Amino acid sequence: MNQHDPNQKGSANQTGPATMTLDGKSVQMPVRSGTTGPDVIDVSKLYAATGCFTYDPGFTSTANCSSKITFIDGDKGQLLYRGYPIDQLAENSNFLEVCYLLLNGELPTKDEFRRFDSHITRHTMVHEQMTRFFTGFRRDAHPMAVMVGVVGALSAFYHDSTDINDPVQRTIAANRMIAKMPTIASMAYKYSIGQPFIYPRNDVDYASNFLQMCFAVPCEPYVVNPVLSKALDRIFILHADHEQNASTSTVRLAGSSGANPFACIAAGIACLWGPAHGGANEAALTMLKEIGTVDKVPEYVKRAKDKTSGFRLMGFGHRVYKNYDPRAKVMQKTCHEVLNTLGLKDDPLLKVAIELERIALQDEYFVEKKLYPNIDFYSGITLRALGFPVEMFTVLFAVARTVGWIAQWREMIEDPEQRIGRPRQLYIGPSERDFVPVDRRS
Ligand code: SDX
Repeated sequence: MNQHDPNQKGSANQTGPATMTLDGKSVQMPVRSGTTGPDVIDVSKLYAATGCFTYDPGFTSTANCSSKITFIDGDKGQLLYRGYPIDQLAENSNFLEVCYLLLNGELPTKDEFRRFDSHITRHTMVHEQMTRFFTGFRRDAHPMAVMVGVVGALSAFYHDSTDINDPVQRTIAANRMIAKMPTIASMAYKYSIGQPFIYPRNDVDYASNFLQMCFAVPCEPYVVNPVLSKALDRIFILHADHEQNASTSTVRLAGSSGANPFACIAAGIACLWGPAHGGANEAALTMLKEIGTVDKVPEYVKRAKDKTSGFRLMGFGHRVYKNYDPRAKVMQKTCHEVLNTLGLKDDPLLKVAIELERIALQDEYFVEKKLYPNIDFYSGITLRALGFPVEMFTVLFAVARTVGWIAQWREMIEDPEQRIGRPRQLYIGPSERDFVPVDRRS
């Protein structure tokens, strides 16, 4: 393929066309430029023009939409939410303000935030009948299995916000999801430990409310540690959105068929559960526990480099970040703050994590493959210190990512270019053949 001619200007956000030559035929395809980041070659007419599909398992070079929400520069280690750098938001903002930003595109004024905060706070309760869903699960069910089931069931309770073509209902559904996910997540946790559900409170902030719903008991008052709730709020900010990652792409694909938003978010939760994605924080902590002590680290680094071992360092590597994950830096700082506050700075797992990071960042295998710690590397240690069992780590990731999923879902619904997602394939199966009756089969 010839490079497009940047001197031939297309529309306002288009540069010159790209030309592909196939079997002596040349096909021109428009090239579009975004605000920043790689240009895209619009191949939507390629099949009609050439009879060929593009082929890109894992979508390593494929954009499935245009979006104004989040931007990642993997080489620079840059992450922007609506143009604002993640480290500035983590330092200066709060999770609900970031929710408003991701949903509406701008940081709220004081009055806009007050209204949004009040609305979310007053929609944190779930229908009382939803409590009965939990009794159908075994107590030792993985909380992510519970989340997939209960969140999917929300569509059975909120028929007044499932018409995806009504912008008012789309906003109601978005606010309901953000408000109720912490309540459902805390119920999944309380059910797993046999404690009574704790109702949300309207007099505390979002992260403090989640902590009290998880760790309060009816027998005595629960006082939230402000350092810990601030740390959790920051963890929510770091996990809120991340371009077209696997679970967000799942939500978009489910939404492209017209499925209701609650069902789409349930699909996103199911995808996030995988250890290569949101399940990595649980897998990373399990790995640190398995390593156990600093002297065992070299053995595990060796295994991670041995392809035949099938072992990977969980919490390392990223499809997009080929430099340090900017969230991991903030996560590491938060991890130290929480451990120091709780007097756990000598946590043996932290020592293992620091040694693992030190060795991996010097090892030529990891340097050459650009495998750096990602957000999941330190989040597990932090969440364990906050008192969450390892099975709840991905649930917290889902609570935070709900705003990203719903913002991307809404953007997809409102995008005139979007239609039902239906990828094609390269068929490598048998050619057409006639049926063989069973008595003639060998
Ligand atoms: C998240 O997409 C997102 O934005 C996700 C996320 C979000 O916020 O939504 O950022 C959240 O999912 C973070 C990633 C969490 N996952 C893990 O920590 C699991 C461990 N890491 C990986 O399995 C892997 O790095 C991925 C899945 C994250 C990325 O996979 P890619 O881009 O498809 O890379 P790859 O599997 O093709 O690996 C490239 C090479 C391979 O070696 P070669 O075949 O080229 O010789 O790097 C090696 C891999 O074997 N490799 C690793 C490794 N990750 C990749 N080797 C050892 N340990 C690892 N962790």
